[in-house]
Amino acid sequence: MSAILESPVTDAAVSGESVLIRAALPDDYDAANIVFKAQLGEGFTLDRELWGAICTAETHRALVAVAGNGDIAGLAVVIVSDRIRLAHGTRRRRFHLDHLIVLPTYRRGGIGNRLLEELIGIAKAESPSYIIVNCEFTNVAARRTYESAGLYLVRQGNDRFEIAFS
Ligand SMILES: CC(C)(COP(=O)(O)OP(=O)(O)OC[C@H]1O[C@@H](n2cnc3c(N)ncnc32)[C@H](O)[C@@H]1OP(=O)(O)O)[C@@H](O)C(=O)NCCC(=O)NCCS
Repeated sequence: MSAILESPVTDAAVSGESVLIRAALPDDYDAANIVFKAQLGEGFTLDRELWGAICTAETHRALVAVAGNGDIAGLAVVIVSDRIRLAHGTRRRRFHLDHLIVLPTYRRGGIGNRLLEELIGIAKAESPSYIIVNCEFTNVAARRTYESAGLYLVRQGNDRFEIAFS
């Protein structure tokens, strides 16, 4: 796990409810499975080994939002990739937001925004060239959440758009 994700967690009051944003742990598997099922359907089962890997691999940053009652109310997963070009002597890091999910009962309470704020804080510390997310253009909730956290549209296709911050 990266040093940054081991740094002190933050505590935020969200619409009267307190959530704790912290690095995801392999032991969060059961709760993460519930969050993924809520988004992908009951037929989906999170692979335990893969979940453990994204919590510990240098190629990923994973955060969970813990509600005041201890529930894991949401999670965010970023894939980190480095583009190293020897002839140019350059090394560019990219953050790709792979998952941002808040349990339906906890939505519209600012948790998605808090997860993104925390990720942007990590990005500022790790200096990727940009954060990118592919999101369906019709996903208004996701678009508003990204925009409210300061991410902006850089490219738009027929049914998808990409947003980033730099
Ligand atoms: C997208 C998602 C993570 C947002 O989480 P959330 O905790 O409800 O978001 P927040 O409460 O932090 O809302 C952030 C902003 O988006 C707005 N917003 C959130 N949901 C909205 C909706 N359904 N319609 C309109 N605006 C919405 C909020 O009003 C808020 O705006 P503000 O800061 O200007 O007040 C959540 O809806 C979700 O899990 N969706 C399913 C998974 C998904 O689509 N993920 C994105 C994949 S690309």
